[in-house]
Amino acid sequence: AMHDELTRLVGTVPENANRKGFDTEMQSFLSLFTRYLAEKVSNEELNWDKIKSPTENQIVSYDDLGVSIDPESLQKLAVLKVNGGLGTSMGMTGAKSALEVKNAMTFLDLTVQQIEHLNVTHNLDVPLILMTSFNTHEDTLRIIKKYADQKLRITTFNQSRYPRIMKDSLFPCPKTADEEKSAWYPPGHGDLYDALLHSGVLDQLLADGKEYLFVSNSDNLGAVVDQRILGHMIHTNAEFLMEVTDKTKADVKGGTLINYGGSMRLLEIAQVPSKHVDEFKSVRKFKIFNTNNLWINLKALKRVMDKGGMDLDIIINPKVTEKGEAVIQLETAAGAAIKHFKNAYGINVPRSRFLPVKNCSDLLLIKSDIYAIENAELVISPERMFATTPVIQLGDHFKKIQEFQKRFKKIPTILDLDHLTVTGDVYFGRDVTLRGTVVVIANEGQRIDIPDGCILENRKSPKVRNP
Ligand code: UTP
Repeated sequence: AMHDELTRLVGTVPENANRKGFDTEMQSFLSLFTRYLAEKVSNEELNWDKIKSPTENQIVSYDDLGVSIDPESLQKLAVLKVNGGLGTSMGMTGAKSALEVKNAMTFLDLTVQQIEHLNVTHNLDVPLILMTSFNTHEDTLRIIKKYADQKLRITTFNQSRYPRIMKDSLFPCPKTADEEKSAWYPPGHGDLYDALLHSGVLDQLLADGKEYLFVSNSDNLGAVVDQRILGHMIHTNAEFLMEVTDKTKADVKGGTLINYGGSMRLLEIAQVPSKHVDEFKSVRKFKIFNTNNLWINLKALKRVMDKGGMDLDIIINPKVTEKGEAVIQLETAAGAAIKHFKNAYGINVPRSRFLPVKNCSDLLLIKSDIYAIENAELVISPERMFATTPVIQLGDHFKKIQEFQKRFKKIPTILDLDHLTVTGDVYFGRDVTLRGTVVVIANEGQRIDIPDGCILENRKSPKVRNP
């Protein structure tokens, strides 16, 4: 039935439009959907007893890496940011990477400047590649167009657009190929490999003499090119490296690298049988998690794709549309590709290489004076007295980006902050300073306005109220 529906969808594309491209996309979707059905029927679960912690050789410590690399190897590198996600949990409708971080610079601007800095320092021309989706393409182009005249090469390509699936009937949501956005979805960053192949970017990179690809999330400004990691990759002939980092209680949901019958696998929480979820979240058995900073040998990637591509583990993402219909999205994760490569392993990197912005509390932190900018990198301000960053917990009123922006007239000074908790209907004025442990709780029906210039030090629920 799905096959017929898709054929019909393809038929709705005018012949002079890109019918062939759309057809290829629907073929890839169909093979993902077919795998999903087969797994549903066989009801095959992961064999939990086969899962072991990685061996010492499978996770190399960053401290054990060598130091040097020859400049010619660096010249064979390309940097790619996956930038197709929406940041739905922050209520975004465009690219998260188009948000401003500091001094009117967005994530994308800082990324561009990081690569420019690398190129200037070592006299290279490492290109920047951005994978966008139908949700983020416009935002991305708007920001990068100002770099059109510069030396840095920026390539963008669109990832796939797959039809959402009705949960009950398993029919595709869109009736025609030009149906509105909400009928479609970008199928996760694991789509990277298909999209690189189908867009022709993979072949172009190889033709340009590029051999290594460094992939990371577009909101992770900690993911800068690291010569020691690349050097180690080349030295050990690794085809695929995954940067992992020590798990803290806050990262319980991150995917982890496991030893599955001797080979490396990525294990995502969505794949874990419910009775094992607590064990998965514990820091005891699964000590590290995937930062999604990945280093990939491009020739090896080409070989894998030519041999029929990848069967990345399917992540079923249930959603409810605005009209209240239950739908599912079949997605994949880029790190799951590790099982297709030879000499693949993890590198346990310092936490500073993983600086994601998953919610508005994360955003507040990186926008604040806790971080300074050095060569377009975020570094903890030298004026900060402690090595750790403050713990910030903004309540539901700050969950959506529009609310966040409305509630902070300006980002407060938090250099000496340890802990901030904000709950309820709270607004921050200009030039507010927060120190020590600050707790602001507005009760139901109450609104708290922190006045301009206010200093709060070790304060619990200040009685500053609007008339
Ligand atoms: P995640 O899917 O982990 O989360 O994306 P997110 O986009 O931060 O937020 P939610 O879950 O929607 O709230 C991690 C990285 O992968 C990219 C995102 O742009 C982000 O850089 N991504 C995600 C894609 O490129 N394509 C996708 O289909 C999904």
